[in-house]
Amino acid sequence: MDANEFKKHILAGIPNQLPDPKVYDQSLNHAPKRKAILNAEEKKLALRNALRYFSPEHHAVLATEFAEELSVYGRIYMYRFRPDYKIYARPIHEYPYQCIQAGAIMHMLSNNLDHAVAQHPAELITYGGNGAVFQNWAQYLLTMQYLAVMSDTQTLVLYSGHPLGLFPSHKDAPRVVVTNGMMIPNYSKPDDWERFNALGVTQYGQMTAGSFMYIGPQGIVHGTTITVMNAARKISKNEEDRKGKLFVTCGLGGMSGAQPKAGKIAGLVAVVAEINPKATKTRHSQGWVDEVHSDLDLLIKRIKEAQTKKEAVSIAYQGNVVDLWERLVAEKMKVDIGTDQSSLHNPWAGGYYPAGYTFEESNKLMAEKPAEFGEAVRETLRRHAKAIQTLSAQGMYFFDYGNAFLLEASRAGADIKNANGTFKYPSYVQDILGPMCFDYGFGPFRWVCTSGDPKDLAYTDALALEVLEDMYRTAPEEIKQQLSDNILWIRDAMTNNLVVGSQARILYADSEARIRIASAMNKAIATGKVSAPVVLGRDHHDVSGTDSPYRETSNIYDGSQFTADMAVQNFVGDGFRGATWISLHNGGGVGWGEVINGGFGMVLDGTEDSERRLKSMLFWDVNNGIARRSWARNKEAMFTAEREMKRTPNLRVTMPNIVEDKLLNDLF
Ligand SMILES: NC(=O)c1ccc[n+]([C@@H]2O[C@H](COP(=O)([O-])OP(=O)(O)OC[C@H]3O[C@@H](n4cnc5c(N)ncnc54)[C@H](O)[C@@H]3O)[C@@H](O)[C@H]2O)c1
Repeated sequence: MDANEFKKHILAGIPNQLPDPKVYDQSLNHAPKRKAILNAEEKKLALRNALRYFSPEHHAVLATEFAEELSVYGRIYMYRFRPDYKIYARPIHEYPYQCIQAGAIMHMLSNNLDHAVAQHPAELITYGGNGAVFQNWAQYLLTMQYLAVMSDTQTLVLYSGHPLGLFPSHKDAPRVVVTNGMMIPNYSKPDDWERFNALGVTQYGQMTAGSFMYIGPQGIVHGTTITVMNAARKISKNEEDRKGKLFVTCGLGGMSGAQPKAGKIAGLVAVVAEINPKATKTRHSQGWVDEVHSDLDLLIKRIKEAQTKKEAVSIAYQGNVVDLWERLVAEKMKVDIGTDQSSLHNPWAGGYYPAGYTFEESNKLMAEKPAEFGEAVRETLRRHAKAIQTLSAQGMYFFDYGNAFLLEASRAGADIKNANGTFKYPSYVQDILGPMCFDYGFGPFRWVCTSGDPKDLAYTDALALEVLEDMYRTAPEEIKQQLSDNILWIRDAMTNNLVVGSQARILYADSEARIRIASAMNKAIATGKVSAPVVLGRDHHDVSGTDSPYRETSNIYDGSQFTADMAVQNFVGDGFRGATWISLHNGGGVGWGEVINGGFGMVLDGTEDSERRLKSMLFWDVNNGIARRSWARNKEAMFTAEREMKRTPNLRVTMPNIVEDKLLNDLF
């Protein structure tokens, strides 16, 4: 299909004539069949909802087809309307647009649906099993058409993938406002997602899926490396001493697949269990896993050898993680670091596989006998937690990796809580990312070169490196480690070949670094050194973007970890400070109802407007969270807030007074 034809397709939106039905493409990784949850009346409602997108002349054909999709897949994806053209992050000028910001959004959105990037592209799922960009293909087609015709005084409103319409606004307003899964709080249980998603009125946007900010595995390689490296620093500051230490975890999926690579970079013996042979094969063929073993006897032998030889090596165990943990207990092995990254944010629909069943048997049980499957999951979780407890008592450092392991294990009745109701083990944010990164303002800043040209990316890498090196020279001791980790990362980024999909880069930066890097890129666009606009963004998993009591805000201890003011304020504040698009989600990482998170996208086009917006918005986007974390009495954030106030005279943050423990202890 040539460029003009592609543009014509985009501008046509939902076609007037029905395209031919699609063959179910077996070569794609498809979403699992979703739970059948609707009663007969609700099924009619789901069809009535789906048919709203189409002219009545097509209803007879489509009603039968959509009813079939609902029955076979549990959802109406409208497969017939999946475009025939290839969806990927095309160079921006290949999209039809009236305003460049809309062109950049099409570039980003397309990347999330690229077959090379997305987990279940035919079902519009980018990652995490249920992280949706849209609920169905009609929403995709309509959204692309709106973006293609919108001006820079209009705003497109997206309700969980559904384009509500283009509304008059103004140049400084966001071009797109996205909300995903925003429920009345009482309707935020896992089955509510199943029901209302099947009805076609809401979706699970994860974090960067429904907000068009996913950049493939690179984001997760970086975040995981930072986490595992700092976990290793927690067990020993001495690099030499860390060699040969054993790191055990679970999951070789979308995000979890970065663990073996990160473990090896940190110099450890990294052993990762994975039940799905396809996932193991993918990570092995990518070189993210060095070896695969399915025989536990041989695996244990190999681990012992690697420990003795102090090898940095990544090993996959093809099997259930609980079998591995129980064997490690039986062997009385010394495990140094342990965690888990199965998808426990989604335990009843394929996120966690019970022991005693093959992968296929589990999938069958899940679809046919969900109650029995649920009980098997709970039983496995109890065994899982017991093995962790035994090894922790022998000195293993275990942390929850933000996948709701502790939460679900406790719900399953595992002995995992202290007498005061807190968990026995820390989350990775409580122990690692919170105090070492977020509270100092360091978080997953990213950018995408919309030209699609690797030369632009290399140029922006060099600009970022220059900024970080310059900051390092005068940085206080407290943030030197962060800066130097990221200097090393960005220096090697190009040679490490991290790009999959769009020309994107991630690094951890604080407010000052984000603003300085963005400003340098804006100038480079103005002078033509970078050939097309650059999109700034970040993972929602950041300083200010996410309220999530068992993850991003698990190191908040003033009780406010169960509130969501920060994430909501962040979304609103980014919106009126110049973000090009903003998003607010229910769910993401730990699950529907468990977290509120938001993000932004900002298009830099080399103009004065971009310069003004980036300074205003990026400052708020980090310092909102710093101020909140500081008010929660986190000392690292108090340090950062004080430092920022010295740099920025018109910032006034309310600082906490600290009461002496003795005073309170004497009272109670
Ligand atoms: N990497 C990160 O930085 C990060 C941060 C926060 C949270 N998380 C969370 O980590 C989880 C994993 O994310 P993902 O994208 O990799 O999900 P995923 O579903 O793609 O991968 C999880 C993998 O675990 C495997 N698995 C499940 N149960 C198993 C068992 N009992 N034994 C062996 N293997 C089993 C699955 O087959 C799957 O391949 C999610 O809950 C996510 O929210 C990741």
